[in-house]
Amino acid sequence: MFDFDIPVNRLGTYCTQWDYVEDRFGKKDLLPFTISDMDFETAPCVQDALKHRLNHGVLGYSRWNHDDFKQAVTGWFLRRYGAEIAPESLVYGPSVIYIVAQLIVQWTQPGEGVLVHTPAYDAFDNMIEANDREMLRCPLIKTAESYDIDWAQFELLAQRDECKVMLLCSPHNPTGRVWTTSELVRMAAICQQYGVKVISDDIHMDMAFETYVPWSEVAADDNWAIVTSGSKSFNIPALTGAYAFIANEAAREQYLKQLKAAHGLSSPSILGVIAHIAAYNQGAEWLDSLKAYLQANLIYVAETLNAAFPAINYQVPQGTYLAWIDLNGLNVDMDALQTCLIDDHHVAIMRGDTYGESGKGYVRLNVGCARSKVEQGVAALIGALSK
Ligand SMILES: Cc1ncc(COP(=O)(O)O)c(C=O)c1O
Repeated sequence: MFDFDIPVNRLGTYCTQWDYVEDRFGKKDLLPFTISDMDFETAPCVQDALKHRLNHGVLGYSRWNHDDFKQAVTGWFLRRYGAEIAPESLVYGPSVIYIVAQLIVQWTQPGEGVLVHTPAYDAFDNMIEANDREMLRCPLIKTAESYDIDWAQFELLAQRDECKVMLLCSPHNPTGRVWTTSELVRMAAICQQYGVKVISDDIHMDMAFETYVPWSEVAADDNWAIVTSGSKSFNIPALTGAYAFIANEAAREQYLKQLKAAHGLSSPSILGVIAHIAAYNQGAEWLDSLKAYLQANLIYVAETLNAAFPAINYQVPQGTYLAWIDLNGLNVDMDALQTCLIDDHHVAIMRGDTYGESGKGYVRLNVGCARSKVEQGVAALIGALSK
């Protein structure tokens, strides 16, 4: 019913990934497999709702704090993830990182620490540092098939005096780990034991190929927030719009006071709100179809890459449309690889060390695009590795 094979030309649309590839890669006109948005049009139901709203023509101040928005969001969590989360705990924010940053600032003092599994989405590092907090890195352990938490290290970090918050990425960017209930329960118990509050960034939740469990289902107390958006799943980050469930009432009030009074953000982007309502009420079928396509893209990457270089042993991730590929087994000079990818093959593929020390020797390939483009990216990677 939905055809994700049709390529859409994004050039000339002020598109960060395509039009501004030079900013990160120093060269124009590269085929990009970079920041995490997708080349696909958003779901037809979202496009229809946006067109309908724009046809009205009046774009005055708006609201998110109404039943239509809250029920769309909580209904989505209930139907897809079996999680019954109180609608009154829901708050809006312009972006996931905005909300996460505000909560960190409100829940910690300057100089205090935020525990993060690494490698990590690069904005985490920048945001924590820009807010004068310290990132306490807990490197994941690579296994033959996946990535494990280093529990001893996790507990050591959690018990440090300065550790006040764990910023969880669930599912995890860039490894694609979808945390199991037992892992989440164990993290929750350790965090509760040492008084560490939890902020769970669940923006990749809808792209989980294993069972995704929201933090609400394992929380040991009410010191937590789930921060997320439909922006990744329905490819609508340019509309702006994110939301959070903040369990503790006082923490929620504090967040809302900052949002509205300190930052003047009472009125949301109406297009973002409309898009979320349409996506969550009517977009399930489109999303299921998209997920199947993305997973098939990842399987293609694994089969093709491993056939060319068995030593890579790339495993299809449990979630996300990001292929996190470990090249350490090949002893590659990563600078030379990038030069070859850019100059000879004209592709932009993210360096793993963008995501911290533990990403050294990796690349991250965004497969949120038509298969024909993934084929070009993988061929370029194989070509550059062969050279
Ligand atoms: C884990 C994670 N959080 C947040 C974001 C960005 O969300 P936003 O643009 O809503 O701040 C991304 C985007 O790649 C991400 O991967």
